[in-house]
Amino acid sequence: MNKQELKEAILALKKEKKALILAHYYQDADIQELADYVGDSLGLSIEAAKSKADIIVFAGVYFMAETAKVLNPKSKVLVPDVEAGCSLADGCPPEAFRAFRNQYPEHVAVTYVNCSAEVKALSDLVCTSSNALKVINSIPADKPILFAPDKNLGRYLQSQTQRELVLWDGACVVHEAFSMEKLTHLIAQHPNAKLAAHPESEMHLLKLADYIGSTAGIIQYVKATDVQEFIIATEAGILHEIMKQAPGKTLIPAPSREDNTCACSECAFMKVNTLKKLYDCLLNESPEVMVEEGIRQRALLPIERMLEISA
Ligand code: 13P
Ligand code: SF4
Repeated sequence: MNKQELKEAILALKKEKKALILAHYYQDADIQELADYVGDSLGLSIEAAKSKADIIVFAGVYFMAETAKVLNPKSKVLVPDVEAGCSLADGCPPEAFRAFRNQYPEHVAVTYVNCSAEVKALSDLVCTSSNALKVINSIPADKPILFAPDKNLGRYLQSQTQRELVLWDGACVVHEAFSMEKLTHLIAQHPNAKLAAHPESEMHLLKLADYIGSTAGIIQYVKATDVQEFIIATEAGILHEIMKQAPGKTLIPAPSREDNTCACSECAFMKVNTLKKLYDCLLNESPEVMVEEGIRQRALLPIERMLEISA
């Protein structure tokens, strides 16, 4: 099948099986265009939670699909490729996280949604980049906090809340690969451009940013800001939705270091999903995401607390 035929076949299967396709902003444009809903990790969780579809196909990375299954156990949750991991989730194994938690028994354990369901099940609260500040601010000032797995988001939260967080040593390979040398040069070449950055970026980059926020936040910022040029420091897949929502703006992706595995700031995990794999997973109703019921119930509590706080 050529690309067009594949797209038509996916839409036909989606209709036949009454499936819901959810896609993250970092997916390829072709996949985003086929989705019923495209969003950031918070928006996608909310959509998954309220869906009545028998089948949810989650085009994103594994921890996102797992969160959908935790929130909506009745739906069959499918992923195009189980290898769509995440350096943050993969770098925080449950047993090591349990040992880390046990070192700080008095601390409230807050985990960034980019972690496995097992790690969420060991947490008091979950957050996404959209609501992390609200979640931290909801914790009484006298309670110490530990935060995992993203040390860059953790440092950003410390700087914004003046709270001391005990940090897990994890990072996003994409947001740590920006070249400060090239970025400073780019800013000098485009003095009127605004820099919008995701908080998974390192502090030295965030210090230069005009706006710091989640993928959904960055899209809103570009839309609402009366400036022509923007440098976007997050995964390049987001450019597709920004161009749709803010047509006519000039978008410049923040450059990565040469030693980065991708030429630009692409997440190799997000990009393992293809139209063909999306088609195959709808056709075969596989691979399916499964979460053991005990873990699911324990993971649900901190996610529901987060949804209440960010409502
Ligand atoms: P958002 O919550 O902003 O969509 O970010 C998810 C992510 O994985 C960023 O790298
Ligand atoms: Fe994980 Fe980074 Fe990819 Fe987001 S961009 S899914 S944090 S590896």
